[in-house]
Amino acid sequence: MQPTVIAPSILSADFARLGEEVDNVLAAGADWVHFDVMDNHYVPNLTIGPMVCQALRKHGVQAFIDVHLMVEPVDRIVPDFAAAGANLISFHPEASRHVHRTIQLIRSHGCQAGLVLNPATPVEALDWVLEDLDLVMLMSVNPGFGGQAFIPSTLDKLRAVRAMIDKTGKPIRLEIDGGVKADNIGQIAAAGADTFVAGSAIFAEPRTREHYADVVGRMKAAVAATRG
Ligand code: DX5
Ligand code: ZN
Repeated sequence: MQPTVIAPSILSADFARLGEEVDNVLAAGADWVHFDVMDNHYVPNLTIGPMVCQALRKHGVQAFIDVHLMVEPVDRIVPDFAAAGANLISFHPEASRHVHRTIQLIRSHGCQAGLVLNPATPVEALDWVLEDLDLVMLMSVNPGFGGQAFIPSTLDKLRAVRAMIDKTGKPIRLEIDGGVKADNIGQIAAAGADTFVAGSAIFAEPRTREHYADVVGRMKAAVAATRG
């Protein structure tokens, strides 16, 4: 299993003060920035694109940026995110006509590649591409909105994908996205996740560095407690 990563989703940040919010959450101990891209087509919501990613880099953000594409088609926008400073780009197999090609495209632009499975997408979507991935992300809510409840069947799915990853012997991360809180992250970690997205659980009132440090600290402690 890879070292634990906490990746706050800026979907729940105050977009009018985005640079400051990201600075604060990173100073609070968060590891990655999770960047949710929605197109009002693949998902029924509309968020941010490469210009905002580039603006965070210009603002001075040096942390790993984990771009989660909920867009269709995928390939057109991949080079733009690579140029805008993304470190990892993940996408949904339903949104790409040629999944293997999209993975190669992401890698050819110097980024790590991730594949995202929706709650109803079978783990067999990973067959024949798993070893080409840097990360598998399981959605524990339906994509499109923050603040939804964790879908419990995702725990069994995490255990299944953990076993598939371990069988490859490769350092592939297993990320979970949706409904992650300080009080359920322990069981999610125990089921095999090593990389944790959390939006509404972290970016909430009061929007202070101290509050973010408190939540991120409790999340890391809960994960560490499951690692023995
Ligand atoms: C949902 C997004 C998530 C979202 C998670 O489509 O992919 O990253 O921000 O939000 P919470 O943690 O509030 O469920
Ligand atoms: Zn996401």
